[in-house]
Amino acid sequence: MSSSTEAELIHLFKGIRFTTRSSPELLKSLDAFDAREDDVLLVSYPKSGTHWLAGVITKLYDTHITITSPIEFGDISKLEEMNNLSSKRIIPTHLDYNMLPQNFKKTKCKMIYISRNPKDTAVSMYHYYRDNPNLPTVDTWTAFFDLFLKGNVVCGSWFDHFLSWEEHEDDKNILFLFYEDMKKDLPKVVKKIALFLSLNISDKAIQDICNKSSFSEMKNDTEKENSDPSHTVCALTSNRKLIFRKGAVGDWKNHFTPKQNKRFEEIFNEKMKLSKM
Ligand code: A3P
Repeated sequence: MSSSTEAELIHLFKGIRFTTRSSPELLKSLDAFDAREDDVLLVSYPKSGTHWLAGVITKLYDTHITITSPIEFGDISKLEEMNNLSSKRIIPTHLDYNMLPQNFKKTKCKMIYISRNPKDTAVSMYHYYRDNPNLPTVDTWTAFFDLFLKGNVVCGSWFDHFLSWEEHEDDKNILFLFYEDMKKDLPKVVKKIALFLSLNISDKAIQDICNKSSFSEMKNDTEKENSDPSHTVCALTSNRKLIFRKGAVGDWKNHFTPKQNKRFEEIFNEKMKLSKM
């Protein structure tokens, strides 16, 4: 990774890498964010299925809602922009729990945390780094693998992110979801989300939402003429086409060498020894 490119695109805030699309002023002012009791936060480490979850959630509401850009994305004008929204806000974020604006913790608004096998997350993020001009150049999978394990990637360490949220697993206002469960039985997960959000949805409507939220449907939507390519819930791109790559479970097996797998497992077991995962 070339250091000049890295310096142009990335800055460190509280030891975590952010792209320059998240201004330091905004990050410093996060605690000034006003939270509302009816806000819903969509929380994820990048590449965990955020857009998929957002796609499902928008289809669950029949009232007017606004999916905002991530809290940490933009400059200081973001605070006012968010305050000016009169409709219900669905707010994505890649922040770890410690950096979450205090007011969201105080109001105890609903939060949904989606997680994914970190091996697949790493592979997905590697391709994203390669294709996304807003991220530093990465030459090889081997180089990226190292950066990922050290947490020297945007949004920091997967392990720290997951653990910071897992500590709040029993909080009634936080729902934990797994990408792999969505792949296995989407209707079951959608029902769980609807129940959590206190939305009364018929089985038929759930099935309809699932059909419209399949990988192929969502990918096709980005190809349509009237689709807005910049409508993305990701803080790291304004190009929806970069989001829908393969949508599979287990793609890590096509990238990890046996040695890399062993190293990953050792680090996983060490870092996650107190985790229930
Ligand atoms: P891959 O790169 O492994 O394909 P995020 O939205 O958090 O950036 O996550 C992007 C990942 O979710 C990508 O993974 C993308 O393909 C996958 N994804 C997006 N929509 C999906 C869907 N409807 N079904 C399955 N996977 C989906």
